[in-house]
Amino acid sequence: MEITLADDKPGIKFMPGEEDVALHPGLKEVYLDNTKISYIDGDKGRLYYRGYSIESLAENSTFEEVVFLLIHGHLPSRYELFTLKDTLRNERELPDRVLMILKSFPRETTRIEILRTIISALALFDPDDYDYSKEANIRKGLRIIAKIPTIMAYSHRIKSNLPIIEPDLELSHSANFYYMVTGNKPDKDIEAAFDKALVLQSEHGSNASSFAARVTVSTLSDIYSAVVSAIGALRGPLHGGANERVILMLKEIGEPERAEEFIMEKLNKHERVMGFGHRVYKTRDPRADIYEQMATYWCGKTGNQKLMEISKIVCDVMARERKLSPNVDFFSATFAFAIGLPILLFTPLFAASRSAGWVAQTLEQMDNNTMIRPLMRYMGDIDRKYRPIDDR
Ligand SMILES: CC(C)(COP(=O)(O)OP(=O)(O)OC[C@H]1O[C@@H](n2cnc3c(N)ncnc32)[C@H](O)[C@@H]1OP(=O)(O)O)[C@@H](O)C(=O)NCCC(=O)NCCS
Repeated sequence: MEITLADDKPGIKFMPGEEDVALHPGLKEVYLDNTKISYIDGDKGRLYYRGYSIESLAENSTFEEVVFLLIHGHLPSRYELFTLKDTLRNERELPDRVLMILKSFPRETTRIEILRTIISALALFDPDDYDYSKEANIRKGLRIIAKIPTIMAYSHRIKSNLPIIEPDLELSHSANFYYMVTGNKPDKDIEAAFDKALVLQSEHGSNASSFAARVTVSTLSDIYSAVVSAIGALRGPLHGGANERVILMLKEIGEPERAEEFIMEKLNKHERVMGFGHRVYKTRDPRADIYEQMATYWCGKTGNQKLMEISKIVCDVMARERKLSPNVDFFSATFAFAIGLPILLFTPLFAASRSAGWVAQTLEQMDNNTMIRPLMRYMGDIDRKYRPIDDR
């Protein structure tokens, strides 16, 4: 092959055969594979899990039912739902030694980092750790889903110098989750709303975290590693880390009168406003609409109307200036705040919900696996002369 040194010939050079390859930065618009788990119609603002619209699931279903639906592809029978709930309930506890690890983390560690690290540690205590059968993977997946609320609640309470609250086996997944975090058993209204929130964010196509999970498991690695990868991807502010920043921004704005100026300043500085825009939705994010209704109701009920007033102005300015609509993270943050969840848990809360989708997608990837390994077009130097350290 003819050798060209970039040092000798400045400017962009490509390797032979790579001059005209089509690049897909961010894999925008690229279809990776077939899926039967969820469908997003970005032009119409529609979302379906296993063929059921998000609106119908949010209205009628529960998180446990959706976990079953995503993993198995159909709504559970009474018996199947009973068994799944029983499994989730009995898998809530953490091994004592994992709790010891959790207690040892530095005080300032973020809750999502704790979650990521504890999921990794849990793999070592899983009785099925080295069983890679589908049945074992489902068991492991359900253990992960069941334990995330406990990890979140324990880490939050330990870091806040509060006594930990052990899981209450009498309570549903969402009621127990809320109870372990806040110390208050939710009434039926809060339980239903919180459960709906878990349903709303449990699956969303080839989002960055689910893709990360698929990449990991596509090497025939394990489901815990896939979920660890997913959490790592989720915590970034362009993905699941946006919700915490949304509520901090709304609180920083403080008064409705300041909202317009605040957002204009951000836009003029070319900063992103968290909770707006979406890679796939070209119109409204349907989850944002449902969350907006929930946030309006709960802010009204809990004396947080001002937050909603500010939110509405922010939405108007973003629509006017950038034609951008709120995404799931915008009103979900206001909702979670209104029902009394700690801000530091907002991103882990997304993980608690999305864990269902991660498990389902990991299983689907393993059912029909091709190792995910794209190419990169090389634009650097080639065949450089290696110089000994004293000659550099
Ligand atoms: C979600 C997100 C990463 C999708 O991005 P994307 O599809 O890759 O689109 P791009 O980042 O290419 O953005 C396209 C344009 O819209 C602008 N834009 C997108 N979202 C914006 C936002 N939230 N605030 C301000 N401008 C935004 C970009 O600056 C860019 O403008 P430019 O072409 O003039 O540079 C993006 O909308 C964003 O950063 N949102 C804020 C973070 C967030 O809420 N994440 C949660 C997603 S559920």
